[in-house]
Amino acid sequence: MILLKNSKKRIAVCTLVFLCLLLTSCSGVSDGKVLYFAHSLPTSHPVHKGILEMQKILNEKSGGELRIKVFPDGQLGSEREVLELLQIGSIAITKVSASALSNFAPEYQVTVVPYLFRDDAHLWRNLEGEVGEQLLSSGSEYLLRGLCFYDAGARSFYTKEKPINSPEDLTGLKLRVQNDKMSVAMANTLGAAATPMAFSELYTALQQNVVDGAENNIPSFVTSNHFEVCKYYTFDEHTMIPDVVIIGTKFWDKLSDQEKEWLRASAKESVVKQKQFWKETIVEQMKMLKENGVQFTYPDKAPFQEKSLPVMENLMKDPKMKTIIDKINSN
Ligand code: GCU
Repeated sequence: MILLKNSKKRIAVCTLVFLCLLLTSCSGVSDGKVLYFAHSLPTSHPVHKGILEMQKILNEKSGGELRIKVFPDGQLGSEREVLELLQIGSIAITKVSASALSNFAPEYQVTVVPYLFRDDAHLWRNLEGEVGEQLLSSGSEYLLRGLCFYDAGARSFYTKEKPINSPEDLTGLKLRVQNDKMSVAMANTLGAAATPMAFSELYTALQQNVVDGAENNIPSFVTSNHFEVCKYYTFDEHTMIPDVVIIGTKFWDKLSDQEKEWLRASAKESVVKQKQFWKETIVEQMKMLKENGVQFTYPDKAPFQEKSLPVMENLMKDPKMKTIIDKINSN
């Protein structure tokens, strides 16, 4: 109830802030157009650094005629809230997890299927191939057009009280997951009690024992400071859910062909650096986490994979999803 009230208040605040910003500078013509880009991650995160790279490339390509202004850290709302602001045309661009997007454009649900992507190479072969193109354009129907995917590694469980060596260790644990039905199904099927909530609310929830743990990739575990509260991180790597850069079609449709090309190209080109930032960050952060007493577990993934299979089987009852999953599996 409290969470709900807070989030309603935040929507109101964000909308107000945004309307003010909109009135002051959104689409000035003489000194170029500025598109607002809101996302939920902190500025130390490798995904934010990828976004800054996109900003730089766009500036260079357009000679400053088309620019983006970045609002990090959930300043303008949670991922769901910002996606709604994109749909009504208040904000132009965002970067969200594909799970958040799956609440709007159902095709993205496939990216949340546990153990669907076999490794990094399999993931990127699909994201940068036919399946990826299909997903990115599937959002347009819901006013959310995809520009590119960013690396968000693999998600694993982390807990406060005890290490996780097998799915049995998850039984009954209250674990925060992202707010979409696939993430909830994943945690519940593995035996935990899924507790969906916004990322920004998680630190306090962990501290106050509202949840016993959560799941995420290493950079998000670190930059959100969750490692201060959770000292056990288990590399079960249950999902590889990419991040996605999205532009609202309300803005996209008003851009010239040239502007569209600048944006498309700067998003795609920034991916190369973003992947590099990701790899470098993980190396530094693993060292830091060890120095800070975080204990890592490398469990046998097979029992996790087996126990979570019903999540994929259920989704495949939908013929549209089955076609995409079959394509990914055979690629
Ligand atoms: C990842 C992802 C974010 C998302 C977060 C979450 O960090 O990059 O976009 O908000 O997971 O678990 O909510």
